[in-house]
Amino acid sequence: MDDDTSSVRLEVWSEGDAGLLSALNAPESTVHLGGPETEEQLVRRHRRYVGMSADGTGAGRMFRIVLLPEEVVVGSIGFWAQTWDGEAVYETGWAVLPGFRGRGLATAATRAVVAEARAAGRHRHLHAFPSADNAASNAVCRKAGFELLGERDFEYPPGNPMRCNDWRFDLG
Ligand SMILES: CC(C)(COP(=O)(O)OP(=O)(O)OC[C@H]1O[C@@H](n2cnc3c(N)ncnc32)[C@H](O)[C@@H]1OP(=O)(O)O)[C@@H](O)C(=O)NCCC(=O)NCCS
Repeated sequence: MDDDTSSVRLEVWSEGDAGLLSALNAPESTVHLGGPETEEQLVRRHRRYVGMSADGTGAGRMFRIVLLPEEVVVGSIGFWAQTWDGEAVYETGWAVLPGFRGRGLATAATRAVVAEARAAGRHRHLHAFPSADNAASNAVCRKAGFELLGERDFEYPPGNPMRCNDWRFDLG
C-alpha cells in the first residue's frame, strides 16, 4: 500500500478555522452529509472542534488540511470517540474544498489521520462511515487501507436515515 502523506500537513483546529468550516458547508460539499448546517450549528461545531484541540486525553482531535508546499488550507479531517456495536472506537471524517479535489489530498490526509489516531492510542479501531453512494469517499477509504466490513443503516444528522459503508482500520 502506498502510504505517502507528503502532499499535506495536518494542523490542529484553532480559532481561525471558522471560515474553513463555513466554506465546507456549501450545498455541493454536504450532499452526502444531510445538507448545509445552520449558522448556529456551525458555531457550535467550531466551538466543539476548538475544545477538542485543548483536550489531551486522546478522545479525539480535528485538523485543517494544509497543502504542501503551497501552504494553502484545503480541507478538514479528524477523529473522535464513538461507540459502535458495543465497542469503544474512533471514527473519522473528512472534506476537501471543491477546487482541490481529485489530487489525492483526502487520501493523503486520511493516511495522516490514521497515524494521529494511532498515536492518541485510546482505541484499537478507526471507523469511517461514508454514504454508500459517496463514490469519492469510499475510494478514499479503500486507497488509505481501510477494510470494508459491509453496509449499515446510519442516521446523520440525527433523524436523517442513510445507508453507509462501514470501513475499519486496525490501529493495533
Ligand atoms: C470525499 C472527498 C473528501 C474526496 O476528496 P479528494 O481529495 O478529491 O479525494 P482523493 O483525490 O484523495 O480521492 C478521490 C478518489 O475518489 C475517486 N472519485 C472521485 N469522484 C468519484 C466518482 N464520482 N466516482 C468514482 N470515483 C470517484 C477519484 O477517482 C479518486 O480515486 P483515484 O485516485 O483512484 O482516481 C471530497 O469529494 C469531498 O470533500 N466531498 C464532500 C464532503 C464529503 O462527502 N465528505 C465525506 C464524508 S465521509
